[in-house]
Amino acid sequence: MTAIIDGRALARALSAETAAAVAALGESHGIVPGLAVVQVGDDPASQVYVARKVAETVRVGMRSIEHRLDANTGEAELLALIAALNADPLIHGILVQLPLPPQIDAGRVLDTIDPAKDVDGFHPVNVGRLSTGTGGLVPCTPLGCMKLLDTVIDDYYGLAAVVIGKSNIVGKPVAMLLLERECTVTVTHIATRGLADIVRGADIVVVAAGSPRLVRGDWIKPGAVVIDVGITRMTDADGRQRLVGDVAFDEIGHARAATPVPGGVGPMTIACLLSNTARAALLSVS
Ligand code: GUN
Repeated sequence: MTAIIDGRALARALSAETAAAVAALGESHGIVPGLAVVQVGDDPASQVYVARKVAETVRVGMRSIEHRLDANTGEAELLALIAALNADPLIHGILVQLPLPPQIDAGRVLDTIDPAKDVDGFHPVNVGRLSTGTGGLVPCTPLGCMKLLDTVIDDYYGLAAVVIGKSNIVGKPVAMLLLERECTVTVTHIATRGLADIVRGADIVVVAAGSPRLVRGDWIKPGAVVIDVGITRMTDADGRQRLVGDVAFDEIGHARAATPVPGGVGPMTIACLLSNTARAALLSVS
């Protein structure tokens, strides 16, 4: 029987911890952490994510500052806004929702965010800190994956971990975090040959491919732990919308534990964003 790792419950617990940390910061230093969320254009998925981030930020007692810019906004205007947010002492975290419209160089934008306010952990300084194991702000989804794994794994030493997907947002950073715990990590991607056989050797599988039901039951070693980061919106034959993961969840009854979709990794991403923002605020006064 596969244990279902309940991301909703864990996210609630983490957000309660963050709310307590926010209250303590108010009492000790008289500050309210402020998170600025910048969205350029009106990508429908981004709108849903941003609305959730704003609502949760307020719920844990932090200030949410939203900047919605027109889809035609130029790069210079966005960089000027980030410079102003960097200089604003009431802002402790800055998140620029991706993807950005094509006229804007996302790399240049991320490079401009003050690393101390980079609650997404995407700035090269934070990426470098993660890969050298020297602190910094860690990207939210990978951080959430590790917190989910921590509920079922005590000792990572020497475990074989396979990551599917090499994105900067999930695949690469989660590989670094697993490496930090002394796992033997294999990062696979679209060009990987013999993927199923590689996955068959894994004690831990983290899938962030964005490919519905890519990972089948016979890929999973009995007793493995499976983290499914995939969220694809699909329409059923009866016209109903549902979210589908990258793992054929109904086929992995022999796994030791797995995250469901929805209700696994998704809720943890926002909870980790709030936790990162409270941490950035705390670091700003310590
Ligand atoms: N778009 C999809 N995921 C993310 C994320 O974690 N952070 C930001 N800023 N944009 C995203």
